[in-house]
Amino acid sequence: MAKAPEIPLQLVEEIRSKALSAPRPRSLTPGQRDALFEKIESLLKQKNAVLITHYYVDEQLQILTDATGGYVGDSLGMADFGNRHPATMLVVVGVRFMGESAKILNPEKRVVMPDLVADCSLDLSCPIDSFSAFCDQHPDRTVVVYANTSAEVKARSDWVVTSSNAVDIVAYLHGRGEKIIFAPDRHLGNYVQKKTGADIINWQGFCVVHDEFKASELRRLMQEHPDAQVIAHPESPAEVLAMADAIGSTTQLINAAKASKAETLIVATDFGLFHKMHQAAPDKKLLAVPTGGDSAACVSCAHCPWMAINSLDNLAAVLEDSQGHEITIEESVRRNAMVPIERMLEFSRSQGKV
Ligand code: 13P
Ligand code: SF4
Repeated sequence: MAKAPEIPLQLVEEIRSKALSAPRPRSLTPGQRDALFEKIESLLKQKNAVLITHYYVDEQLQILTDATGGYVGDSLGMADFGNRHPATMLVVVGVRFMGESAKILNPEKRVVMPDLVADCSLDLSCPIDSFSAFCDQHPDRTVVVYANTSAEVKARSDWVVTSSNAVDIVAYLHGRGEKIIFAPDRHLGNYVQKKTGADIINWQGFCVVHDEFKASELRRLMQEHPDAQVIAHPESPAEVLAMADAIGSTTQLINAAKASKAETLIVATDFGLFHKMHQAAPDKKLLAVPTGGDSAACVSCAHCPWMAINSLDNLAAVLEDSQGHEITIEESVRRNAMVPIERMLEFSRSQGKV
């Protein structure tokens, strides 16, 4: 498969240093936690707001979201839920591209986030100027971008996909004879290419969490637990995916855990997912694929540093005063970005996948 140029080293270093310097929330006593739960619950009612939360954030935020009638799920489900829910304020508890997707689809609603600094290394590794120039060099190709991108990159694309539907959508485009630029995740692009046989030029972005999973350490863990099954998110390296029994989006991994006959599961994704996975498959023992070990140290150590910025403290604060926390997108960018996202939602809805 053809590759786009490597991500410049300086940008890779910037992304790593941003990941390492992301702010960490304070830890709470049970009393502080209960008081914040109560406060947030009452503010959500007052503001006609709903929480839309990703599986990777702290489990207390997931519990609160469930308790207040919000949604906890993957990025596809988050976009779909926000688009359908009648609340006038959407509070997106995840990373910025998720808030932007909500705003793109719901311009009439206020979309706020606990902290707009919540980045994503895939988004950061696909700057609009270099990406757009690259697309201009290949005008014959359909531009397919992962949801983990900026509004501007989405606006430059023909299709948006998430890990839930990337294979289905690219297979569909390949079936129509279309050649593809896939961005920004190199591992997901590689996986999609193998599954579909499509002609893809693959952008070389990476996720600071999944890129760190080590095949050598996984092999060792599998030897220690020979009856375990391996389940992996497709942002993981090809050598890890090659050892997986099931590969899929966060929601698909929870379903795979539920369906698995194995007592022990080795999981290659952010450990934030373990909260819902334990709920869905309480009898299973869950082990994380190592990110370090003999061969390396880790930057993320299996937990997204930007998802981890979200806390009960900053959630309560944004509900009290949303100034500086609201997602805004220039209208022409928003309108252009909405087209490929709606295309994706329509595709997945027609397949009964959301
Ligand atoms: P999902 O769409 O599977 O939730 O993935 C989003 C993400 O950021 C994974 O790292
Ligand atoms: Fe982005 Fe990776 Fe964090 Fe997901 S886990 S939001 S892909 S940096």
